[in-house]
Amino acid sequence: MMRNMKKSGSIENQDVGATGGSGGIDNIPVQLLDALKDAGHVVVFTGAGVSAESGIPTFRDALTGLWSRFDAEALATPEAFLRDPELVWGWYEWRRMQVLRSLPNPAHIAIAELARQVPELTVVTQNVDDLHERAGSTAVMHLHGSLHSPRCFDCGRTHSLPPGPPNEPEGGRRLRPPLCAHCGGWVRPGIVWFGESLPEDVLAAAFAAARACDLLFAIGTSGLVQPAARIPFLAKQAGAKVVQVNPTATALDDDCTWSLRGAAGVLLPQVLKDLTQRK
Ligand code: OAD
Repeated sequence: MMRNMKKSGSIENQDVGATGGSGGIDNIPVQLLDALKDAGHVVVFTGAGVSAESGIPTFRDALTGLWSRFDAEALATPEAFLRDPELVWGWYEWRRMQVLRSLPNPAHIAIAELARQVPELTVVTQNVDDLHERAGSTAVMHLHGSLHSPRCFDCGRTHSLPPGPPNEPEGGRRLRPPLCAHCGGWVRPGIVWFGESLPEDVLAAAFAAARACDLLFAIGTSGLVQPAARIPFLAKQAGAKVVQVNPTATALDDDCTWSLRGAAGVLLPQVLKDLTQRK
């Protein structure tokens, strides 16, 4: 089902809705497949929605258990950590457990496979999990840091955590953060929190990739958090096609050439299959 074509015959802002029980869509637009087939450089820009089908809640999902009284955004700040390190460290250890007990889903796997089908593909993620890497993607740019690289709040030195998932109770718990072996400061998650700057080199490389690519996928992101949300816009401004994959409308809708409405774990394998058949 196609709707909202703004100009007759135009492929700008084309909204392609999910149909049927499978969650797939009738046809991936052929213009999209051709643009992908001809692209020299593809950027895949992902958000929490790409990991949703691995069982990792997105940021706009309500928190549960010990954290049900809180907003994710209220816990993801340096002030929250300094005010209550045990609450915030407990939350991140519980999330790290969830991630390490999860597996990459068909969306992560399709993205890793797509890299083998196009001359150059860059994955830029806002996610702090390692599911892209575990699916086989390489050189993933993590704009918002990683759950797996904690460091000292005071001196910034890295800290090693024991291998394997932490064993946290279902509903979560308060947990004392480890202390830095060098200076005795609190160890904090290696996440870019609200109010903190993104790693300059990673952001610059992501912006450069967006400006240089021929086609950008924006997958599972609400497009609400800056400066990351500029990435699809930069690609569009430089003349790239922008393909959104998301079951719902987002702040990025107006900047997309095509919005594929549905779950990434269904639609990305469909794009890959149709691309292979069209080659
Ligand atoms: P959000 O939680 O804001 O948005 C997730 C998006 O994924 C929503 O638009 C959903 O509709 C969509 N979604 C859900 N399930 C999906 C599926 N199966 N397939 C495709 N899409 C799906 O997450 P982000 O946009 O990543 O920042 O949020 C950006 C940043 O804000 C995060 O990196 C985090 C957060 O607060 C920090 O931690 C600094």
